[in-house]
This record gives sequence, C-alpha cells and structure tokens, in this order.
Amino acid sequence: QVIYLNGKYVTKEEAVVSVYDHGFLYGDGIFEGIRVYGGNIFKCREHLDRLYDSAKSIMLDIPLTQEEMEQALIETIRLNALPDGYIRLIVSRGTGNLGLDPRRCPVASVIIIVEQLAIYPVEAYLNGLKTVSVSTARNIPNALNPKIKSLNYLNNILVKIQANLADVGEAIMLNAQGYVAEGSSDNIFIVKKGTIYTPPCYIGALEGITRAAIMELAEQYGYKLKEEPFTLHDVYVADEVFFTGTAAEVIAVREVDGRVIGSGQAGPVTTHLMEEFRKIVF
Ligand code: PDD
Repeated sequence: QVIYLNGKYVTKEEAVVSVYDHGFLYGDGIFEGIRVYGGNIFKCREHLDRLYDSAKSIMLDIPLTQEEMEQALIETIRLNALPDGYIRLIVSRGTGNLGLDPRRCPVASVIIIVEQLAIYPVEAYLNGLKTVSVSTARNIPNALNPKIKSLNYLNNILVKIQANLADVGEAIMLNAQGYVAEGSSDNIFIVKKGTIYTPPCYIGALEGITRAAIMELAEQYGYKLKEEPFTLHDVYVADEVFFTGTAAEVIAVREVDGRVIGSGQAGPVTTHLMEEFRKIVF
C-alpha cells in the first residue's frame, strides 16, 4: 500500500506524522472521503471544491493547487492499482508546538490514503439498517459549522458510540431545536406519499455530495423533492427512509427507535434511486 505524505509516496510504515501535528493534537484540519469506481474518481471536482472551501473557512492554507491535488489523487490511485476503492484525503494544520496558535504551524500536512472501506455490512444493504436517534446534538451552524468537513469528528464519534450501545448500525442526530439533521457519517432522506424530503444543510448537516447526486437523480426521474426540516415523528411515519454518503453510498433504513419503517425493507423509491446511483458512478 502506498500513501501520499507531503509530496512523497511512502509505505504504510513510513506514513507517520509528528505528535506535534495539530491535526492530531486538536483535530485542526479537514478531510474528504472520495470513491473511485472503475478507475474514475467520482465527483472529484465537487470533493475538491468542498475541501478548499473547508480550508478557506478555517484559514488553512493548502500547499497544493486543486489541479496539483487532483494529480496527487490520480497518482496515489495508480500506485495502489486500486481501480475501485475509497480515498481518504486529509489536510491538517501541520506540525507546530503545544499551543493552539495555528501561526506556529508553518506548513499544512497533506495525506492521501487509498484502500477499501465498507462502513456497513452487506446484510445491511440487503435488509436495511436498524437505527436509533441520539441525544448527541449536531453542532448548530454558529458553533463548528457542520458544512466544514473538519477533523473534529468527536461529535460524530459520540453518535457512533450511542449507535454501538444500542447495537444498531447508524444513529440519527437532531439539531438543538430537535429537527432531524443527519447520521454520524451520512445524510438522511425520507419518502412520504411519493414525495422525498431531506433536511436543508442549515439544519446542521454536511452538504453531502452523494446527497446532491441523489437530489439530481430524483429531479431527473420526476420525483417531488422537498428540502425542508422534519422531526423524528415524520421519520417514524415515513414510507421509506434512506441514508447517502460516499462510504455508505445509498442504504435503506428499516427501523428507527423500534419503529419499523414502511414494509421494513428498502421501498420502491429507495430501490430505484439506489439502482440509478449505481449507474452514474461508472
Ligand atoms: N463522510 N454527513 C457526514 C457527517 C459525513 O461524514 C458524510 C460522509 C456525509 C455524506 O457526505 P458525502 O456524500 O459528501 O460523502 C454526511 C464520510 C467520511 C464518507 O462517507 O466518506
């Protein structure tokens, strides 16, 4: 396995960062999860646009242009000979001292890892995921804005811990007002009487690239789609619920907090969008 580390291609063993790296010390950094299908980096431009927006938002200077970053991605995929895989692209503030001050980090660390990643078991794609809602609230926008895909994933990890304790595959975060925001690492959609709903990102969700692709497909296939806030009640009584994400792709939800969703398996809209999504990724 070959890893890109600050301009060099190194082995897994050689891929180490300093304990003074502020990504490690403070989660001071950003990242992207990107998929490669048949050698094609899916939505590369959209991922890099989001990465550079996240960087700008936290005043982190990435020492590569978007073009250079794309080349580094392509080369890392080539060196790993992984035509179908998952890319984790990380940019941290870099090595500094123990203080918080980013000005003590002269250069950002840029890391590209390419491997296989399956965040849910195959069974979950066949039968749908069991989920719960959790008390861990999604940051409200004036805290750490959920639109910044930062290395500060403790909020998401606490959600995952609550999912683990409930012995389910994923958990749903609400925002401070109690509206449904998203999963620990995926966006959420519900279907009710043929209409598809997904929370607007200002509710407290990452502007998912898979979410955008599904919204485009929904439009293309003439589904009514509304980006509006909804509550757990709406989820419980929905005909269908599904999650979207780069790692997750599209996955049906069969149960939320003990309420069986619709028929208890992937519904017709979910199934159709899953099929159409698989067609566009190649
Ligand atoms: N990220 N919401 C959160 C909190 C996420 O971490 C992710 C994906 C998504 C889905 O966004 P997108 O469709 O752009 O991937 C939503 C993980 C690391 C991933 O799937 O790579």
